[in-house]
Amino acid sequence: MMKIAIGGKGGVGKTLLTALLSKVFTESGYSVIAIDADPDGNLAATLGFPHSEQIVPISEMSSLIEERTGAKPGESGGFFKLNPKVDDLPEEYSQQHRGIKLMVMGRLKTGGSGCYCPENALLRALVSHLLLARDEVVILDMEAGIEHLGRATARAVDKLIIVVEPGRRSVDSAYRVSKLAKDIGLENIAAVGNKVRSPEDKEFLISSLAGFEFLGFVPYDQAIVDTDMAGRPLLDASPKVSEAVRDIYQALMATDAKGTLGHDKVKS
Ligand SMILES: Nc1ncnc2c1ncn2[C@@H]1O[C@H](COP(=O)(O)OP(=O)(O)OP(=O)(O)O)[C@@H](O)[C@H]1O
Ligand SMILES: [Mg+2]
Repeated sequence: MMKIAIGGKGGVGKTLLTALLSKVFTESGYSVIAIDADPDGNLAATLGFPHSEQIVPISEMSSLIEERTGAKPGESGGFFKLNPKVDDLPEEYSQQHRGIKLMVMGRLKTGGSGCYCPENALLRALVSHLLLARDEVVILDMEAGIEHLGRATARAVDKLIIVVEPGRRSVDSAYRVSKLAKDIGLENIAAVGNKVRSPEDKEFLISSLAGFEFLGFVPYDQAIVDTDMAGRPLLDASPKVSEAVRDIYQALMATDAKGTLGHDKVKS
C-alpha cells in the first residue's frame, strides 16, 4: 500500500493536495489514513471534519504519552521508552469522515535537548508504524521541512511529493526539501505544480525545476479561495482542481505499476 509524504513551502497547497488525494484514493476503493503532521495544520477542516477545531493532537495527549513512554511530556534527560507501543493508536485515536481516516500528530519538539523527549519518541514511533506496518494508503501532510521523517522511516516513503507554485521562493524551497530528503535516504521524489494560471506558469516551473519528475499540474481556481473564505469544506469546491488531482493519482499508480513504489515492503 502506497505511502506518500507531501512537503513544500508554506501556503503552496500541501493540505489541499493531501485532502484531495485522500479522497481520490478512497473513491478508488483504497483504505486511506491521512496524517496531519503540520504543527499548524488544518487538514481536518480541509477534509470537512465537523468540529475539526476540537480534535486534540497526539502530541498534546499527556497521559497517553506518559502511559506509553513511562515519562511525562516536557521531561527531558529522564528515562523513557524509545520504542513505545503504538500499533493500537491508529484505531483508537483516528477519526473518520466520508470514508477517510485522519490522525493529527501535533508539534514535534525541535532544537536542543527538546528533541530528546517522550512526546517526540511517541510521535516518531507512530509515524514509523504508520509508514512501515499499516496495510492501507498513508498520506502525510507535512510542514515545510520534513522533520517527522527520519532515516529509518524515509525508506518506507514510496513518494515524497513536493508541491510548488509559480514563484522563486517555492522553487528554492523545493530544492532545499529535496536535499533534506536525499540526506536521509529518500530518493523517490516528485513535484506537483499548483496554482498554475497559464502555460507560462507551467513552463516556469518545468524550467526552474529541471531534473524533477512532475506528477502533474493543478490549476489556480478562484472557487477554492471563495469556498475557503466562506469557511466551507474544500473537497468539492473545484471540479477542475479535482480532475487535475485524479490525473496525479493516475500518474502515481502508473509509477507503481512499474514496481518502483515497492509496496510489498509493508511486511518486511
Ligand atoms: N489550486 C488552487 N487554486 C486556488 N487556491 C488554492 C489552490 N491551492 C491552494 N489554494 C489556497 O491556497 C491556500 C494555501 O493552501 P493550503 O493550505 O493547502 O497550503 P499548505 O501548503 O498546506 O499551507 P501551510 O504551509 O500553511 O500548511 C489556501 O487558502 C488554499 O485555499
Ligand atoms: Mg497545510
